[in-house]
Amino acid sequence: MAEPVIIAPSILASDFARLGEEVAAIEAAGADWVHVDVMDGHFVPNITIGPDVVKALRPHSKLPFDCHLMIAPADPYIEAFREAGADYISVHPEAGPHLNRTLKLIRKVGAKAGVVFNPSTDPSVIQWMMDEIDLILVMSINPGFGGQTFMHSQLRKIETLRRMIDAEGRDIPLEVDGGVTPETAKLCVAAGATALVAGTAVFRGGRDRYAANIAALRG
Ligand code: DX5
Ligand code: ZN
Repeated sequence: MAEPVIIAPSILASDFARLGEEVAAIEAAGADWVHVDVMDGHFVPNITIGPDVVKALRPHSKLPFDCHLMIAPADPYIEAFREAGADYISVHPEAGPHLNRTLKLIRKVGAKAGVVFNPSTDPSVIQWMMDEIDLILVMSINPGFGGQTFMHSQLRKIETLRRMIDAEGRDIPLEVDGGVTPETAKLCVAAGATALVAGTAVFRGGRDRYAANIAALRG
């Protein structure tokens, strides 16, 4: 039997005035990871959360913090995110000239190293360094904002990356981010995803709905 899918609510869709409570609430509602969207207004056209906010949230949850860096450059901030409490740190290949160096730096500071694929990014970018990757994150939207519509074109990419992971023989989580709903979640899992990020689909309806929303994503 397959492992249960990992659900990583994106706090981008939570109440920013009550972030600590929101993180605790999703943990109580059955979330597996906390997805933190870090944006710089340069790599993507929006500005969100920095290391100080991650540090302030850390005592509010025991769950792994899955930090998705949409910043360029990323390298100067990686140690700060690790010290703040990030467990996974994921970067976009387009954010810097040396992806391999960035992945090594993430592991060196003690975090797990993730690579994020924009809708246009080809799987081959990681072909020669599969053993240096601890997480693969496929964007099913263009990064920058929550509440966008799932791009079905990315399902084929998920299938391709699934084959690459299976050939590697290591249990690398294959995560999908953007427009994930109970309907699109099924398609992602069928394509080989093992982790799902969801903002809108988890936080809609208020705190009483979080557990049911998370359960619905598990299918
Ligand atoms: C967008 C972020 C996503 C976003 C997903 O750049 O990476 O994590 O919060 O939001 P929904 O689930 O609403 O598409
Ligand atoms: Zn994200």
